[in-house]
Amino acid sequence: MKCFYDISNIKSDDIFEYPEAFARFYDLIYEKIDTDLSKDVYLNEIRKTKGTILDAGAGTGSIFIEVFKEGADIYGLDVSKNMLDVLRKKLPGEHQNRILLKDIRKMNLGMEFDLIIAPFRVFQHILKTDEQINTLNNIYHHLKPGGKFIFDVFIPDLNILLNEINDFTDFEFEYEKGEFIKRSFSSKCDLINQINNVEMKIQWTEKGKTNIEVWNVPMRYFFRYELENLIKCSDLDLIDIYGDCIGKSLTNNSKNFIVVSQRGLY
Ligand SMILES: C[S@@+](CC[C@H](N)C(=O)[O-])C[C@H]1O[C@@H](n2cnc3c(N)ncnc32)[C@H](O)[C@@H]1O
Repeated sequence: MKCFYDISNIKSDDIFEYPEAFARFYDLIYEKIDTDLSKDVYLNEIRKTKGTILDAGAGTGSIFIEVFKEGADIYGLDVSKNMLDVLRKKLPGEHQNRILLKDIRKMNLGMEFDLIIAPFRVFQHILKTDEQINTLNNIYHHLKPGGKFIFDVFIPDLNILLNEINDFTDFEFEYEKGEFIKRSFSSKCDLINQINNVEMKIQWTEKGKTNIEVWNVPMRYFFRYELENLIKCSDLDLIDIYGDCIGKSLTNNSKNFIVVSQRGLY
């Protein structure tokens, strides 16, 4: 494990851009691997929402595009140009203005939404407590009264926290006839700062050549009562924290915290 971040050296506007190859193969990889977090958590909420939706950290648009095609009035933003380039190719020209290159920590869109979602670990890219609270307050100011904010983070696995992972291959696949892709990762936790230092490597063949791209990214992990307190420290009201899907209580077998919060009516 080569890269171990010193949190004090990370500035509040630092961005960990998804490299081009990660953006290019993102859909393929997440279609095939078992992530134990179902997209339905978000799709069901969006389908129930009458009004405007913001997909904050939309990435390549795995959720965005599905509901956009069903007629949802959805906007998407992301801090990664590479991820948005993939999403833009899926969206008709006249709707390109629905996609914005913005940072949720600092966005100021001049719009209010009925529902804001940050699906699949977006919030874990926000490393410091003051930034997390600022982000929650920023989300609050982009919600209509009564509007909801829903996000997920993984529930820390004590084995992964305590034991380093070295070059574990979790995905290998023939992505086109005769062309192969393999993803492997290493991780090492900084227990005192609650940071999982992750190194991901993608290797793929293309026209007789083997390519490699490596990405180091720090991911913040959270505990249950910390999440409750973060929401309490912000202007949002907590509705509940569920396990893996909305309405399901947390248990010791849950893999994901699903945090549902709301802007009060007044
Ligand atoms: C694991 S991906 C999830 C993408 C998408 N939501 C999905 O469900 O496939 C996390 C996304 O969060 C974005 N992200 C990270 N920090 C962000 C920030 N501060 N503002 C906006 N997007 C951010 C990343 O660029 C990346 O596209």
